[in-house]
Amino acid sequence: MGEKVLVTGGAGYIGSHTVKKLGEAGYDLVIYDNLSTGLPDAILYGELVVGEMNDFQLLSRVFAQHQFDAVLHFAASISVPESLQKPLAYYANNTCNTLNLLRCCQQFGVNKLVFSSTAAVYGATQEFPVKESSPTLPVNPYGRSKLMSEMILQDYSLVSDLKYVILRYFNVAGADSSGKIGQSGKASHLIKLACDAALGLRGNLSIFGTDYPTHDGTGVRDYIHVEDLASAHISALSYLKTNAENQILNCGYGKGYSVREVLEKVKEISGVDFPIVETSRRKGDPACVVASADKIRQVLGWQPEYDSLDTIIRSALLWEQKNLVDC
Ligand code: UD1
Repeated sequence: MGEKVLVTGGAGYIGSHTVKKLGEAGYDLVIYDNLSTGLPDAILYGELVVGEMNDFQLLSRVFAQHQFDAVLHFAASISVPESLQKPLAYYANNTCNTLNLLRCCQQFGVNKLVFSSTAAVYGATQEFPVKESSPTLPVNPYGRSKLMSEMILQDYSLVSDLKYVILRYFNVAGADSSGKIGQSGKASHLIKLACDAALGLRGNLSIFGTDYPTHDGTGVRDYIHVEDLASAHISALSYLKTNAENQILNCGYGKGYSVREVLEKVKEISGVDFPIVETSRRKGDPACVVASADKIRQVLGWQPEYDSLDTIIRSALLWEQKNLVDC
C-alpha cells in the first residue's frame, strides 16, 4: 500500500479530480466529505466517510482509525457572492473548521498538509501579474476566511513540526479527459455558465462590466485546467516528503483571457452563437487577476499539460454535453 492520505472535500470538483490522480499514483485514500456539493459518484478511489468538518468527534475517530501520512484540505465554501450574504457561515466553515482539522493533526501527529487557498486572498492588490509575495488585501469574506486559515497554518507551523504547501488557485475550469468526472452542481463560474448557454440550458450570458481598464473592457482572469491543478497537489505531496521549507504557491498559467475572449472561444468550439447581454459590473470583481506562475514550476517542478484555453473549454463542453445526455 502507498502512503495514506486524508482528503477533505474529496467528492467536490477539484477534490475529486485530485483523488483520481492520487489513486492512479497508488496513494491509499480516505475521503471526508459532507456531500453538500460533492457527489459520491465522483470519488473514483479510496474510502468515503460522510461527515461535517465541524464534527470534531467523528474527525478524531477517522484520525484514530488511520495513521495518515498527510492531509489535503479541500473542504470549503467557495462562492464569493454567497460569502457576502453569509459571512459567519464562511468563517465557520473555512476558518474554524481548518482549526478543527489542525487540532486533529496535532493530536494524532500528522505533520504534512496541502491547503486549498485562492487568488481571492490578493483582492484589491493592483499588481500584474500577482506574486506570492504581493500584498494580500482580500475584499470579501471568502478571501478573508481563506487568508485567516493561511495565517493559522503559518503560526502553528512555527511552534510545531507541521509542514505545509498552500496552493492559491486562480480560475479553475475544465474536466477530466476520461469524461468520468467534471464540475457538477450549480457552479457560477464563467466557463461553466457559457457552456450551459451554448447547450441551450440558459437563454443568454451576461457580461458583468464592459468598462474595465483592460484591452477590451471586460474582466481578465487566469484560467487553469482542473487536471493540471490536480497534478499540482500530487507534486506538493511529493515535495513535503523530502523538503523542510513551507511554501505558498500560485496555481495559474500566468496568462490572462478576457470575458469576451472566453465567450468567443466557447462560441467557436460549440458552433453556437448564444446571445450575450452586456450589464454593469458585479460587486467585488477586480479588473484583472493573473498569476505570476514561475514559483510553482521552480519549487515543485510542476509542468502543466493542458495550458490552453481551447483545451479547457473543449473538456468543459464535453462534460456538460455528457451530463445532458445522461439526464
Ligand atoms: C472568484 C474568485 C475565485 C473563486 C471564484 C468562485 C477572485 C479573484 N477569484 O473568481 O477565487 O474560486 O470566484 O466563486 O476573487 N463573469 C461574467 N458573467 C458571468 C459570470 C462571470 O461576465 O455570468 C465574469 C466575471 O465578472 C469575471 C470573470 O467572468 O470577470 C470570471 O468570473 P467567475 O468565473 O465568477 O470567477 P471569479 O469571480 O474571477
